[in-house]
Amino acid sequence: MAGVIIVGAQWGDEGKGKIVDLLAEKADVTVRFNGGDNAGHTVIAGEKTFKFRNMPSGVLYPQKRVVIGNGCVINPKTLLSEIDALRREKIEPNLLISAHAHIILPYHIALDGAEEERKGKLAAGTTKKGIGPCYSDKAARFGLRFADLLDKAAFKAKLHTIHELKVAQIEKIYGKTFAQSEQEILAEYSGYADQLAKFIGDAGGAVNDAMAQRKNILFEGAQGTLLDIDHGVYPYGTSSNTTAGGACTGAGVGPNKISEVVGVVKVYTSRVGTGPLPTEISGDIADKVRDKGNEYGTNTGRARRIGWLDVVALKYARDVNGLTGLAFTRIDTLAGVSPVKLCVAYELDGEKITTMPQTAEELARCTPVYEEMPGWAEAPPAEWRKTAIRGMFAVPEEAKNYMRRISEYLNVPICIVSIGAGREDTIVIKDVFPNKPLAPP
Ligand code: IMP
Repeated sequence: MAGVIIVGAQWGDEGKGKIVDLLAEKADVTVRFNGGDNAGHTVIAGEKTFKFRNMPSGVLYPQKRVVIGNGCVINPKTLLSEIDALRREKIEPNLLISAHAHIILPYHIALDGAEEERKGKLAAGTTKKGIGPCYSDKAARFGLRFADLLDKAAFKAKLHTIHELKVAQIEKIYGKTFAQSEQEILAEYSGYADQLAKFIGDAGGAVNDAMAQRKNILFEGAQGTLLDIDHGVYPYGTSSNTTAGGACTGAGVGPNKISEVVGVVKVYTSRVGTGPLPTEISGDIADKVRDKGNEYGTNTGRARRIGWLDVVALKYARDVNGLTGLAFTRIDTLAGVSPVKLCVAYELDGEKITTMPQTAEELARCTPVYEEMPGWAEAPPAEWRKTAIRGMFAVPEEAKNYMRRISEYLNVPICIVSIGAGREDTIVIKDVFPNKPLAPP
């Protein structure tokens, strides 16, 4: 009955996994629409912590369908390891992989490393999972898709043409060696095909059918708005559309099927990888937030860069995504820091601006203009849990004021507030899945 998109409103790692996991309870289908195993979504359910890379975060409700959309690029090996991990917990995923999703192959991973090295200062600090080269092949129409896994003869023929080209590229252009022969890749991927075949199908069709049956659909974005290939801080982002439009193209649904777009906003900024980050800070506060929030890449273990919340970037995220609601995360992590700062404008070449500049070079020259607000007191996790049970009125006044201020700047209402890592540590202000018809039946 509703189509809800969840996107990261910043530079990724906003806590989307937890929000998706929470909302998935009311969704009938959860669809991941972009990226691949460059993402790392941590979900804590009861005593158990799950780290997902490819798998939609809604998978912990095993009776519900999870879909990997056509907009994703998937490494079958890491996907199978996630399926195995779930099976060890006696969870059999009700998974559907779009036949149109692209497959990450070993040469994509080799190229990711080689290209980054050659790019020098233009390197984005990628996760080295082969994401960029796989999307490049998709656009250049050199890609292999999950549909090809189902047709071994087609896979073999396509790989034969592409493999030769990729080896030449890796060895002749980048001067690296690439050891995996065509036959080895064929054998490896044929094994993956046998294990994954039962999951591959018409994902777009299934999602549209579910919508026609008036079911609730949750579209799960990976990474964040400022990493979007079109709207992010190019070239220091990822290679997919991480923003709300990407949900439609990456899942195969029309924009009229979307009822809400929720932007997940961490109450400070973090960034893994390179590129300008105007509100970045170093020193005690950054170290404290990084350690308390365990701000180290789920995927690569890299220490994340830390900064104050950037309202200029958030306004941009509001517009690019058409945000209808905000989900704030990490209130508990920022507790104990006072005052807290909000960047409400930039100074660029002596001029005050309140919109995102058009280039990374300009963004690098921006200095933030801050507004200060009193911070809120630290509390042990058990106290935050009690606060979550009592509801919004029990949240420290300073934290409420801080969130309200951001919401006022953006003119977007708050729908969820997360004050801890567990499902229970959440306050839901607005139900994004009310049981009302989405469009005329
Ligand atoms: P890639 O997606 O591996 O090509 O990396 C491109 C850029 O996006 C790098 O700066 C990465 O650090 C960043 N990135 C990719 N995935 C994530 C994520 O899930 N969270 C945060 N940053 C990410």
